[in-house]
Amino acid sequence: MANNLLHGKKGVIFGALDEKSIAWKVAERCHEEGAQLLLTNAPVALRFGQINELAAKLGAEIVPADATSMEDLENLFRRALEVFGGPIDFVLHSIGMSLNVRKGKPYTDLNHEWMLKTFDISAISFHRMMQVMMKLDAMAEGGSIVALSYIAAQRVFPDYNEMAESKALLESFARSFGYHYGVQKKVRVNTISQSPTKTTAGTGVKGFAEFFDYADKMSPLGNASAEACADYCVVMFSDLTRMVTMQNLYHDGGFSTMGMNPAVLGL
Ligand SMILES: NC(=O)c1ccc[n+]([C@@H]2O[C@H](COP(=O)([O-])OP(=O)(O)OC[C@H]3O[C@@H](n4cnc5c(N)ncnc54)[C@H](O)[C@@H]3O)[C@@H](O)[C@H]2O)c1
Repeated sequence: MANNLLHGKKGVIFGALDEKSIAWKVAERCHEEGAQLLLTNAPVALRFGQINELAAKLGAEIVPADATSMEDLENLFRRALEVFGGPIDFVLHSIGMSLNVRKGKPYTDLNHEWMLKTFDISAISFHRMMQVMMKLDAMAEGGSIVALSYIAAQRVFPDYNEMAESKALLESFARSFGYHYGVQKKVRVNTISQSPTKTTAGTGVKGFAEFFDYADKMSPLGNASAEACADYCVVMFSDLTRMVTMQNLYHDGGFSTMGMNPAVLGL
């Protein structure tokens, strides 16, 4: 159901790889709500993913950018300003990658070079993009920036590995940069802490299928889908949430507040 909540707004979406990606669903929903979009992903993802299909469907331009490269980010946001003919109203950071997770390294025996790369791709990229946008004065007054996070930032989920620290850092950047962007331009910066979701990044985590079912049973509303996350992002990008900033917003069917659910024990 479309309500024109983003009519006339212009947004940059990071991280749509294939149709399972949360960013893919967010782009589709934002388009339905009347937004004009620019899509971006790492050059390697453009070769292996299906982002071209999405861009064609939404009439959006794709600008490749490695989110760890300041040069790529500058080029991306300069191009967005040109394409939109004005400032950006909203941005989605939907980026995560850990070589330690991919290669099955246990938390107590991590490769620290890879760990630094994980932090750079999954968290520092968020600071990088906001720094570049602020320098270019690319955001519209009252604009909205959202990054996707996970509850492993607060609680222990052993197989999530060093992505837990990445998410803690990501959420901290939302608070700290949110202060500066709020004071300077009334720009809101928040993270949405999403349920486990069956995507390329999600299913790469050891034991994902079993954990997905556990979280689904533990949550009174069940796991939140990628489509539901897209709805929440639309609200966060809209003018209806213009006083919400520096928050980590749980979008998890109630999981984060549960202690025990009898359904998990089969009672
Ligand atoms: N799937 C889940 O269970 C889940 C739960 C909570 C939060 N999240 C978060 O949602 C976000 C999106 O993940 P997803 O589940 O949709 O998986 P996904 O694999 O579809 O998306 C991850 C994206 O990160 C991009 N990326 C990786 N390295 C990059 C780089 N150097 N520069 C630019 N982009 C790069 C990938 O190309 C990909 O598009 C991530 O931050 C993830 O941690 C996922």
